[in-house]
Formats: sequence, structure tokens, C-alpha cells
Amino acid sequence: MQINVKIKRYNPEADARPYWAEYKLEARGSDRVLDVINHLKWEVDGTLAFRRSCAHGICGSDAMLINGVNRLACKVLVKDLGERITIEPIRGLPVLKDLIVDMEPFFDSYKAVLPFFINDDPPPPGERYQSAEDRAVFDETTKCILCAACTTSCPVFWTNGRYLGPAAIVNAHRFIFDSRDQGAAERLGVLNQANGLWRCRTAYNCTEACPRDIPITRAIEEVKRALLWRGA
Ligand code: SF4
Ligand code: F3S
Ligand code: FES
Repeated sequence: MQINVKIKRYNPEADARPYWAEYKLEARGSDRVLDVINHLKWEVDGTLAFRRSCAHGICGSDAMLINGVNRLACKVLVKDLGERITIEPIRGLPVLKDLIVDMEPFFDSYKAVLPFFINDDPPPPGERYQSAEDRAVFDETTKCILCAACTTSCPVFWTNGRYLGPAAIVNAHRFIFDSRDQGAAERLGVLNQANGLWRCRTAYNCTEACPRDIPITRAIEEVKRALLWRGA
């Protein structure tokens, strides 16, 4: 099939403002959007800039706004989009070039919630035992691949770039509810600050955008309840 692909392009060293570039090309319905933009870069215009690595929905590097929805380019098929495809950078982060955004603010928020295991007890001789039931409490939030599709689809984040955002809260959830971890109070203290989880207005965009099907809004509500019950 012939498809028409519009990509929002911007090179801050050459362009006064972003502009739409249009490409017509042949594609199969089973091609992924990543195949399409790889073809454009390799065969049509080598200056097109975008991130990608694994091509299999694991590394989280190719989140883009595709036909108005945040998705991973390697996980969406041409046949599910039709003949007209628009591709823009994810919103709310500074554009460095074309589809590449500056992820530093996103990772600063991620680091702020201490996304690592904290336990000062001496290590036991064997494993730190955890029951299957205790593991299940945070199973969903272990699946995050830090693609930023959630945070950059959040209307609160669009208007306040200092909001920690759903991805950071998801990764805080992963440790707050881990029965072996001892850092919950510190993380809840971070999340209780002015730009923490109380900024969430339950818009659900994040949940709809997540390529890992993590129930993000529910996780945020669970952290809110933990904060109310345990205190910061
Ligand atoms: Fe991506 Fe989902 Fe993780 Fe958000 S929670 S960064 S959408 S994998
Ligand atoms: Fe934003 Fe998700 Fe809350 S879209 S407002 S973080 S439910
Ligand atoms: Fe790795 Fe798409 S290229 S998730």
C-alpha cells in the first residue's frame, strides 16, 4: 500500500521553528512504524533523527506521538494506522532534534524517588524471602521500561514540567510496596512535596499510553492511600 507519512521535524541549528515534512512511500500493513522511519532514514533522508535500539518493545527508547497517541514506534503496525500517519516528538520535554527529546528532566524525576532497593539490615545467609502474595502487590509496576509515554501524555505535566509525573510514581510504587524494602517513608516524603503525586488529577492518559499495560492510575491511587495511611 502507498502511505503518506508526515513527520514534525526541527533542527535547532538550522530551523527557526518546527515544520512538517511529508513523505510518500510503499509499505506493507505488517510493517511497524519503526520500519517505516528506518526506511526513510536509510533510503530517503539520513538527517532524520530519532531514538531506537531493541526494536522489540523492551528498551523504551522510541516513544513518539503517532497519529495523536503516545506509542512505541516498534509496537505499532501500519495496518492499524491506515494510509495517513503523523509522527511528532512526545510532548512536554525540550526537542533536541526531530523526534529526539531531552530526557534529562524525566530521569531527574525518576532519580528523585530513589528507584532502588533500600535495606540496611545485614544480608541474610540465603535470599531475602518474599512470599508470592507479597511479590504480587507490586508485580505490575516492575514492568516499566522508562519510555516516558505516560508522563508526556499527562496534561498536568504539559502545564507543569516540574510535576514528578506518573513514571516516577510507578517506580516509587515498585519499591514502596516491596515487603523487603525499608525506604518507603523517604520516598513518600518526596512524593508528598509540592510537585509530587497530589498534582495528579486522575486524567488516565498515562494508563492509556503505557505500552506495558501497567495500571498506572491505580498505582498512583495506591501510593496516595499509602501516604494518607502511613504519613510521610
Ligand atoms: Fe513507559 Fe509505562 Fe513505564 Fe510510563 S509506566 S515509562 S508508559 S512503561
Ligand atoms: Fe496525569 Fe495520569 Fe494523573 S495522566 S493526571 S498522572 S492519572
Ligand atoms: Fe526498543 Fe522500541 S526500539 S522499545
